[in-house]
Amino acid sequence: MGRILVTGGTGYIGSHTIIELFNNGYEIDVLDNLFNSKETVLDKIEKIVGKRPIFHKIDLCDYDKLEKLFKNNQYDLVMHFAGLKAVGESVEKPLKYYENNVGGTVNLLKCMQKYGVNKIIFSSSATVYGEQPIAKLDETMQTGVGITNPYGETKHVIEEMLKDMADSNSEFEAVILRYFNPVGNHPSGLIGEDPNDIPNNLMPIIMKVSRGEIKELSVYGDDYPTPDGSGVRDYIHVVDLAKGHVAAIKAMEPGILIYNLGSGKGTSVFEMIKAFESASGKKLPYKITGRRAGDLPEIYADPRKAEKELGWKTELTVEDAMRDTMSYLNSL
Ligand code: WQD
Repeated sequence: MGRILVTGGTGYIGSHTIIELFNNGYEIDVLDNLFNSKETVLDKIEKIVGKRPIFHKIDLCDYDKLEKLFKNNQYDLVMHFAGLKAVGESVEKPLKYYENNVGGTVNLLKCMQKYGVNKIIFSSSATVYGEQPIAKLDETMQTGVGITNPYGETKHVIEEMLKDMADSNSEFEAVILRYFNPVGNHPSGLIGEDPNDIPNNLMPIIMKVSRGEIKELSVYGDDYPTPDGSGVRDYIHVVDLAKGHVAAIKAMEPGILIYNLGSGKGTSVFEMIKAFESASGKKLPYKITGRRAGDLPEIYADPRKAEKELGWKTELTVEDAMRDTMSYLNSL
């Protein structure tokens, strides 16, 4: 396996994964439309690993440009991170999400098919599990029922497209990686979650509160049936997540493989606030508000399948993520 095309490679998870791919000797091209990221992240990657991916500023919705890229380059595998991911925005603008996430992936898969690229690793999400009777989620569970937002629906539709592609082509190989809640950043502090848009997720909001860009954190409910009443999630350090992608490459085979990438441990919002405060050495201003529509009380991964079949499990903790977040914040 040599040459990998990373879509969305200037984004948060894509950029961290590129570092691990370079560390494992792969050659990398990056495709990104820079809608929610900056090209300067490539300079930082080069500073960290001493190598720079070849960059192509292309939007997956631009079929002609995408097709030309595949025509002029021979890729062994595609790692597909590109997509819009603001849950709240997806509720307001569903078509934008279906066009970009699903439409863009259709274009990508058409080009792969046309040029004989039969391997893809897809950045999916625990959101595809929708409503479940229990908090601990494993890969045997039904997906696509009770998904509360178009963003999650697009991830589910793309998973189904990949399954159908594998059914129609015996040489097609896909690994679907269902992320839980990525947090933290590279210990160098040079790269981190730096979205152009207004963040939805807890950690980027905590980071903006700590920088004074947002007055205080709204804790969306403290009346959940959880130990301290606040929502519980499975926060996975993005460097562990990136390493999971390298492990997935080595396991690829014809057909579909599906893995949860999570720590298997639940952490509450109040525990995240406390962990951030001990890393930053200062209080984080917050207020308690009502629950956010669509939020579930508790979600965390059953990580056993990835450990058994990929030989991968998380090694870093929430405290490591907070420490690395502080290195990033201090570098800004
Ligand atoms: C985490 C916890 C909130 C913000 C979503 C997507 C999922 C994945 C991760 C991409 C919850 C609470 C949050 C705030 C808060 N994204 N919270 N105040 O909802 O678990 O998952 O992001 O793949 O697909 O669905 O993540 O970070 O939004 O929320 O109290 O300002 O923090 O209620 O308990 P979530 P989140």
